[in-house]
Amino acid sequence: MDWKIKSLEEYALAYQESRSNPELYWGKVADTFKWNKKWESVLSGSIEDANIKWFDGAELNITENCLDRHLEERGDKVALIYEPNDPNEPALEYTYKQLHTAVCKTANMLKAQGVEKGDRVCLYMSMVPELMISVLACARIGAIHSVVFGGFSAHALAGRIEDCDCKILITNDAGHRGEKIIHLKDIADKALDDLDNSPVQKVIVHKRVGNDIEMKEGRDLWWHDLYKEASSDYPSETMQAEDPLFILYTSGSTGKPKGVLHTTAGYMVWAAYTFGNVFQMNEEDRYWCTADIGWITGHTYLTYGPLLNGVTTTMFEGIPTFPNPGRFWEVVDKHKITHFYTAPTAVRALMACDPSFVTNNNLDSLKVLGSVGEPINAEAWHWYNKSIGKEKCPIVDTWWQTETGGILISSLAGVTEGKPCFATLPLPGVFPALMDAEGKVIEERESEGNLCITRPWPGMLRSIWGDHERFKQTYLSAYPGSYFTGDGCKRDADGLYRITGRVDDVLNVSGHRIGTAEVENAIGQHPDVIESAIVGFPHDIKGQGIYAYVIASENHSPEEMREEILKVITEEIGPIAKPDKIQIVPGLPKTRSGKIMRRILRKIAAKEFDNFGDTSTLLDPSIVDKIKDGAL
Ligand code: WTA
Repeated sequence: MDWKIKSLEEYALAYQESRSNPELYWGKVADTFKWNKKWESVLSGSIEDANIKWFDGAELNITENCLDRHLEERGDKVALIYEPNDPNEPALEYTYKQLHTAVCKTANMLKAQGVEKGDRVCLYMSMVPELMISVLACARIGAIHSVVFGGFSAHALAGRIEDCDCKILITNDAGHRGEKIIHLKDIADKALDDLDNSPVQKVIVHKRVGNDIEMKEGRDLWWHDLYKEASSDYPSETMQAEDPLFILYTSGSTGKPKGVLHTTAGYMVWAAYTFGNVFQMNEEDRYWCTADIGWITGHTYLTYGPLLNGVTTTMFEGIPTFPNPGRFWEVVDKHKITHFYTAPTAVRALMACDPSFVTNNNLDSLKVLGSVGEPINAEAWHWYNKSIGKEKCPIVDTWWQTETGGILISSLAGVTEGKPCFATLPLPGVFPALMDAEGKVIEERESEGNLCITRPWPGMLRSIWGDHERFKQTYLSAYPGSYFTGDGCKRDADGLYRITGRVDDVLNVSGHRIGTAEVENAIGQHPDVIESAIVGFPHDIKGQGIYAYVIASENHSPEEMREEILKVITEEIGPIAKPDKIQIVPGLPKTRSGKIMRRILRKIAAKEFDNFGDTSTLLDPSIVDKIKDGAL
């Protein structure tokens, strides 16, 4: 079966079949992959019992499907284009054969350091090709990769290493990010020093910048020393369908970040199927996803999805504004990119720059544009469509989450209609429901509610690493029998979906998920902080900004206190969680039962100073005016 959907009719047919006979449909899709052994059942388990299994009994290795499978037909085709931070540094290209060799060598190198199937390997790297190669090398061995975004702090890295007990850490000496150098190895050293009982036995250091670093005797090894010794032959490990493939930490509304666990076969099928159908690429096309591999988009739609489809994928080391805000568009022209996938926050930032940064470039190679990570506002959508797509490129607004493994709601480029600011239609196999305040399914077509998915799909997370109970509690218990997304959603009269944003205490700042509780905990580490509350507020570029209300002891001036708070957050989480505004307040609006009335804080942060609603349950209603008067 060719599962590529080529027309609206085929979409309707596939959707129908995935509803009436999911096992038949997904069995046929899965048949097109390379298996060592076929499955015994396509789907087993249930959402109620939190024991979903896809393709149980099957054996495979995902890298055979990403690489080996293509060698005969397109071994000399470019698999990866690498565009360095500095535009004057030559770009690199890896053919499928070369990428295969690099992955096999790296797998041997890791194996020689004692990495075994099932071991956790932490990758704390900048955007170098060796990051993608390490991800695939782990998968080839059957080791579970846990990529930690290079913008996280030593403390955040240490927590993630400890939580999943990583045996090996791979890092760079440092990474380039625009004009900045990020000293990854120094941060990694600090993380490991901070752990009482570090599980990490070996640190492999890839040299990118050439800065001075300390190599710890017996623990730290240079990538290039190990790599040159390693054989280029590595027959892949045979994995069970439900063996873990990777862990990726993400923020929730409570507690510390959760290690979202994805397994092998279902994730593979979902990554390949959604990529192929949403982006609709031809053999000679060139794809570029601007995400960092440290986030789920970089896993599914920079690495696995494109390689599973045998296309050319592009990896960019830098940032959109270096050396100037025309960089994205220069790279599009330079590499003749046909399919371009980025986040609304980047679109908004570039839209605000001088138009010549765009018009200096041709952009005539572009065929399809994509958006991911947060709701795209109308202004950004229209600018993207006109100035970048020249009104001839369909825009796929792809809604999904770290937990969903891949896209769940999106138009299919050129096949189903797009609509500005709408993710539009669910993919085959995805059955959305909008829930009302009582937890009941809203039947009316035109409606708004909390978005749930009522049936399992192959790419669904299977657990939270080390905490299956938390998995059930977080996703599967609010609406029994359904997966709860945490997002609010509208459905129009045509049945098209528009995601309105998180309904829980998770912020979406520049497309990055940040838990308010996590930031509050970080601020609370400062000895002079008595209490704090974090809320989001509308921000022109970031989508949401972070607003912190802090009660502090009087040891510091408000100015000093703000500096101190930024420092403690940078240390505890990383610069991405730094609040845009910090207001020192005399108290917080609490109810008699001690709950903070966040709705009021959100309104003040948004500069909406009236209609606070009922404040009679507040312990001290006068606090509202005091906070309002000091609003930033
Ligand atoms: C939001 C990123 C509107 C949403 C892939 C979700 C979106 C969260 C869209 C997941 C979109 C993602 N339109 N909102 N197209 N895509 N979101 O885990 O709130 O980093 O719950 O995954 O981003 O963020 P995550």
